[in-house]
Amino acid sequence: MKLFIDTANLDDIEEIASWGVLSGATTNPTLLGQVEGDEDEIYRRICEIVDGPVSAEVVAGDVATMIAEGTRLAAIHPHIVVKLPTSREGLSATSALARDGIRVNMTLCFTANQAILAASAGAAFVSPFIGRFDDINEDGLGRLAEIVEAFAASNFETEVLAASVRTPVHVMEAARMGADIATIPPKVFHQMLHHPLTTAGIDTFNEDHAARLARRGA
Ligand code: G3P
Repeated sequence: MKLFIDTANLDDIEEIASWGVLSGATTNPTLLGQVEGDEDEIYRRICEIVDGPVSAEVVAGDVATMIAEGTRLAAIHPHIVVKLPTSREGLSATSALARDGIRVNMTLCFTANQAILAASAGAAFVSPFIGRFDDINEDGLGRLAEIVEAFAASNFETEVLAASVRTPVHVMEAARMGADIATIPPKVFHQMLHHPLTTAGIDTFNEDHAARLARRGA
């Protein structure tokens, strides 16, 4: 499973990119609203930091505007992937953009049938949301598993991009079930990495090394 970062915060992207674990990034209007500056310049900077697909979301209600804005966003950088909602208009715009060779990530996907439609429209990625199910006391990972199972059986080329990730367990379970990608908030990356026994073990090794050097008068 590939790891993407789910943020528009350049400092967070640079930090996690420095770990050497990133294959892409995703943004959305909410995440972009948390960052100051010109939208296109932010996308350009993310594309320079991350050597992989960078999702930039279209905010439009009609197909023609979705296509026009998606085409404009795709021209910003070769890494840009156009993000569209899994709606009737989003499907029409996705199939048109895909025919033009522009990659689309269909987002706000909540069912296997929505994901199947996204794949059939030619989306390069589909983003099933996990956490928003959990937020309303439903089983987000269960819905993701249905999509992963259906895509494996149908041999779709569209990649399943697990989104709305809230915890390290979401990441682990998405990997265990075979999702192609998980897009992960910066906070969860840090939670994935941290373990108190690792920290304690590093401290002990450093102390024992220092004690040995002290005994040798180093
Ligand atoms: O960016 C798409 C998705 O990961 C956002 O999820 O539920 O945290 O807004 P959420």
